Amino acid sequence: MMTSLQTQLKYDVEAIRADFPILQRRVNGHPLVYLDNAATSQKPRQVIDALVHYYEFTNANVHRGLHTLAEEATEAYESARAKVARFIGAEPESVVFTRNATEAINLVAYAWGLANLKSGDRIVLTEMEHHSNIVPWQLIARLTGAQLHYVPFTPEGEMDMEALDNALRQEPKLVAIVHVSNVLGTVNPVEEITRKAHAVGAKVLIDGAQAVPHKPVDVTRIGCDFYAFSGHKMLAPTGIGALYARRELLEEMPPFMGGGSMIRRVTHEFSTWADIPTKFEAGTPNIADAIGFGAAVDYLQHVGMEAIRQHEQRLTAEALRLLEAEEDIVVYGPRDPQRRCGLVSFNFKHVHPHDVAQVLDARGIAIRAGHHCCQIIMRRLDVTATARASFYLYNTIEEIHTFVEALDDVRKVFGKYGG
Ligand SMILES: Cc1ncc(COP(=O)(O)O)c(C=O)c1O
Repeated sequence: MMTSLQTQLKYDVEAIRADFPILQRRVNGHPLVYLDNAATSQKPRQVIDALVHYYEFTNANVHRGLHTLAEEATEAYESARAKVARFIGAEPESVVFTRNATEAINLVAYAWGLANLKSGDRIVLTEMEHHSNIVPWQLIARLTGAQLHYVPFTPEGEMDMEALDNALRQEPKLVAIVHVSNVLGTVNPVEEITRKAHAVGAKVLIDGAQAVPHKPVDVTRIGCDFYAFSGHKMLAPTGIGALYARRELLEEMPPFMGGGSMIRRVTHEFSTWADIPTKFEAGTPNIADAIGFGAAVDYLQHVGMEAIRQHEQRLTAEALRLLEAEEDIVVYGPRDPQRRCGLVSFNFKHVHPHDVAQVLDARGIAIRAGHHCCQIIMRRLDVTATARASFYLYNTIEEIHTFVEALDDVRKVFGKYGG
């Protein structure tokens, strides 16, 4: 096994950066420092080329035609599914292509939730969830009479495991939980949570939108029932994501949407369904972007997910060290970089985060400010918004230094805290 130092020496961030055309851009007269990766990632030449190649050489509809282009397009689309599935330790039949993580969670809510939840059933969520793992369950709760129960997080930004144990004593039907928080950076112990939830008969859905791009994920090892993620946060184009579901569940679940492709036979009165996963892919799918998703997975695997995780941990540790040393800044989430993924949310004590983002933009530095689709977390932190710098495989330690140094501009414009 490679040591951390060996991986560090082998990790060629400049070679990686050369694959990303957008990183050559200047913004407002400065080299772009892109630290908004939790919102969406940039795309390497290899992914852009895969899209262009598909449209220039192979473009055709899938699963329908008998001509050469249709067969090639089908082969490329299904091979992308196989790559995405392998990347998370799953069989291709267990992976449904969706638009994004949000659609994957809605698919489970409507297809599994409506068929399996009834009045009084409990759904356990956490206060760390992104809106995409809250709102679908609120809608389903309204339709079925099921009840939502929220597990809080500790002041350090970790899941309150005692509160989770208490929630599980009520024997919920579903536990829907985020793998990595997009605000706190917390990596939740999803294997342990899945084991505990299964012990009381609950199904487990994991929102992996911030996990799959940044660390090795194996859904078989986790043992969860459903796992949702988005391509665009992991080098793939926008408009493509995936749902993993255990095979038996996909077989049992009714379709989410009806239309072409997802049927076996249609009569005047009824229809029967195609095999999984096609049963859940009504209409012409997003063929080109699925192929781009496959190319993104190839790229990530070539660099290595463990190497990416270690690189991001070095960046996170440095950002935490520098930000925590500033007495006018509050940092949110676990202090230990080992317990988080590559992002840091913070606030100046005296400046609104929108102003911070604007000042940094003038220096070509892209961070995000807002509630990050996590208004429940904001309420718990007693803020309306935070600033967030989020990292990826192509960011450098120098960029972390540029970002932290540029925070001095905020003090120049808005004055010093207490001054
Ligand atoms: C933790 C988490 N879950 C879900 C989502 C939703 O992803 P998408 O908008 O791609 O569906 C995001 C996006 O920011 C996220 O960070």
